[in-house]
Amino acid sequence: MTHWETLSDQYAAMAERKITDLFEDTNRARDFAAQAGDMYFDYSKTNIDDTTRATLLALARDANVESRREEMFTGVHINETEDRAVLHTALRNLDGGAVMVDGKDVMPAVLDTLTGMRRYADEVRSGHYTDVVNIGIGGSDLGPAMAVRALAPYHDGPRCHFVSNVDGADIADTLRGLDAKKTLVIVASKTFTTIETMTNARTARAWMTDHGGDPARQFAALSTAQDKTADFGIDPARVFGFEDWVGGRYSVWGPIGLSLMIAIGPKAFDAFLRGAQAMDVHFRAAELHESLPVLLALVGIWHNQIGGHATRAVLPYDERLGLLPSYLQQLEMESNGKGVQRSGANCPRHTGPVVWGAAGTNGQHAFYQLIHQGTRVIPCEFLLAAEGHEPELAHHHQLLVANCLAQSKALMQGRTLEEACTIAATKGFTGDELDRQARHRIFPGNRPSTTLLYPQLDPFTLGQIIALYEHRVFVEGIILDIISFDQWGVELGKELATSLQPIVEGTKDASGEDPSTAALIDYIHRYGS
Ligand code: F6P
Repeated sequence: MTHWETLSDQYAAMAERKITDLFEDTNRARDFAAQAGDMYFDYSKTNIDDTTRATLLALARDANVESRREEMFTGVHINETEDRAVLHTALRNLDGGAVMVDGKDVMPAVLDTLTGMRRYADEVRSGHYTDVVNIGIGGSDLGPAMAVRALAPYHDGPRCHFVSNVDGADIADTLRGLDAKKTLVIVASKTFTTIETMTNARTARAWMTDHGGDPARQFAALSTAQDKTADFGIDPARVFGFEDWVGGRYSVWGPIGLSLMIAIGPKAFDAFLRGAQAMDVHFRAAELHESLPVLLALVGIWHNQIGGHATRAVLPYDERLGLLPSYLQQLEMESNGKGVQRSGANCPRHTGPVVWGAAGTNGQHAFYQLIHQGTRVIPCEFLLAAEGHEPELAHHHQLLVANCLAQSKALMQGRTLEEACTIAATKGFTGDELDRQARHRIFPGNRPSTTLLYPQLDPFTLGQIIALYEHRVFVEGIILDIISFDQWGVELGKELATSLQPIVEGTKDASGEDPSTAALIDYIHRYGS
């Protein structure tokens, strides 16, 4: 019997068991929690018991998570379809030793680039710039945008803006009101070919020229393609390069993080890197049963592949982590949204879940209704700081904490018909109407969640959180035997957009298109200008 089959049997066998029953073990809260530094992960509010956990750990061990992890950290080409190493960890290897890729230590170049970024960030922060506009998309946008917002209390540099969408509304709304003479534009693109980014970069350049700025001085670039940044006219002194072993969605730690470094300063950026490095050290050294990334991954596998819950809600009770769900959407869905295994064979089970969510408490007043009473079970991941950044508003934070803890408790406990009847009776309902009203007030409960606690959302902690999720995605990918580091699934749409562009522009007719697409284009032509 495979571990997968054993887990399915265990899942079926516990169908009648409640999560609350598991707390008959008075040590459960302690035994189903783990810590990395001062970060605390509680997974006791899931229906995982000792036996299931042992099987999940055996699944991870037999998938060679430990040896594959070493391959990643030591520069083996684990991105097999692109024949590349996967070494975002080298970007935060501040006090680590050599990291060899294809026989060469990459650390001297990584540290040189970091020194150059620090120098440039200091220059921008002390110069005349009031605003910085980062133009990028996907990993060249979401990482710095999410982190700049998350670290707002540390923001003492120029204002930072992020333009990603090719929809002209994005750049128009961003540039409106900015002073072109005091704005720095950073073009962030690993490939420097992404159509959205290059279109926005050209528009920004024209805007700057038209409004008295000087693109020759006020543009910087972050890219692996230095020939292309030169063709665009960006002075090599303001180009910060990186290697192809940094995937787009893993790139915030290097040059793609320049806007973050400008916002919070090189010292705080170092703390951000050190937080991630601390998580790397934990991931590499901890036993599987104590490893936060492994435990997060195994809980995910239990809920998605074994339990069949197709989505996962990420619910940070931390307003400044409002972009974390979007960031994790790319990290998790681009990495593990695959249909074939490493060998090319079709995946025998579902791969990555749909990841979504929003900051609490806002989500409570929007979609939590479905999470509590809907017919689908949505495993939830709560994140919460022990302390906020507004000591004068401590009562706000206490309310936030109470709400977060109340949600996971409510999901687990639910409310029985009997309890609902008591409530309906206090409202004056009697007889059949009492029963009818009570049924609407039942909460099924037994809905799983995990909670990640940290002292405060500072740069170090944010680094820990992001690295934790990166490694979780890695572990899930290894267990599913997929390649988490390519993204072929985005190619077809890009190719078709390129071939549709002349038809939309009216320089080519739509005769070769499928009838649906042709009809849609016809409408656009009739109503558009
Ligand atoms: O289309 C997907 C993608 O390749 C992402 O993986 C990447 O983060 C994004 O596009 C942007 O790519 P680039 O940094 O090369 O512009």
